[in-house]
Amino acid sequence: MKTDFWKRFRKDFPITERWTYLDHAAAGPIAKPVHEEVQRAYWDTVHYGDVHWRAWLEKRESIREKFARFIHADASEIAFIHSTSEGMNLIADLISREGSVLTNTLEFPASTVPWLHRKAKIRFLEPVEGVLPVGDIKKNLGHSKILVTSFVQYQNGFRQDLEALGKIKGKRYLVVNGTQGFGVLPINVRKWNADFFCAASYKWFLAGHGGGILFAKKEWLDKFKPAFAGWRSRVVEEDFNNRTVHLRKAASRTEYGCPTFPVIFALGASLDYFNRIGMEAIEKRVLDLTDYALSRLEDLGLEIVTPLERKYRSGIVVFKMDRAAEVARRFLKKRIFVSPRGPGIRIAPHFYNQFSDIDRLIKELKGLI
Ligand SMILES: Cc1ncc(COP(=O)(O)O)c(C=O)c1O
Repeated sequence: MKTDFWKRFRKDFPITERWTYLDHAAAGPIAKPVHEEVQRAYWDTVHYGDVHWRAWLEKRESIREKFARFIHADASEIAFIHSTSEGMNLIADLISREGSVLTNTLEFPASTVPWLHRKAKIRFLEPVEGVLPVGDIKKNLGHSKILVTSFVQYQNGFRQDLEALGKIKGKRYLVVNGTQGFGVLPINVRKWNADFFCAASYKWFLAGHGGGILFAKKEWLDKFKPAFAGWRSRVVEEDFNNRTVHLRKAASRTEYGCPTFPVIFALGASLDYFNRIGMEAIEKRVLDLTDYALSRLEDLGLEIVTPLERKYRSGIVVFKMDRAAEVARRFLKKRIFVSPRGPGIRIAPHFYNQFSDIDRLIKELKGLI
């Protein structure tokens, strides 16, 4: 694919006119078509109130089906959520009493707090040189019943080999926090043999705050009951009978009240945008950009924190830097957006970034060291 191919997307990201925006692992901008979609949703409410309610519900379902295809699930296994933390709490509510949890010390707290809050027995594995090899996890499975892991780790960019983990998990539940891979790497919950997955809208997915998706494998819908239920959790969504429950056998029963349509439509518009490009192409582009960043950072003599083996790589690169918070603040003044994370600075470019964005960062770093 020619470099020029990627330039065409710049126009959809006006932020590029003023900023060298290099940390989508913190939060991403919203693409213009996604913004337009959200504006249309509110415009509709301004001018039509609730008149289009039915059409909105139909649109929500068509977006749900698209997400099912996107992660290789069934539409009945997808629920819309508002954050990773909400998704992880919904999952923990279902299975935290099933047995002990095995996770690791690299996790973002959204992966662990919901289990700790429920006083689940939890064991944290230590990574070896930033990596949690599936072989090591296998040796440490012990009596655990629940494996909780991020697809990609926020603090060093380590990408877990979920397909291999899914093969050795046995009868344990595999719970995946997908937020740092959602919108940048292909996702296939079937291939991973995942039982649960959740991810947020506002980072790599470029759809703004307040949205996300939850996947719950069909067979667990029979076994477990959600802690919360509401009038819209039932088989007939618009049943006004106030004396029956009859929960729907679908993950969407966790959407117990009226939907957040503009947020769901933003998710749908972003998904359409990604589907037009293709996730394999986006993954390759981001790995090309991060390969380039790694080689230029190494030229500068900076120590890389991110595991370098190809199969462990993602959209995130972390390099060591003293006084990282101060450096990030200085860069902010120059309109370069990066984050202090772990022992240094994190960069996380998306497909619309250019190699010249990396060059600008390197030039500023050169001035510093
Ligand atoms: C792996 C991971 N999960 C979750 C979150 C954020 O959680 P939430 O969507 O609940 O705000 C982050 C934020 O950096 C993250 O890196």
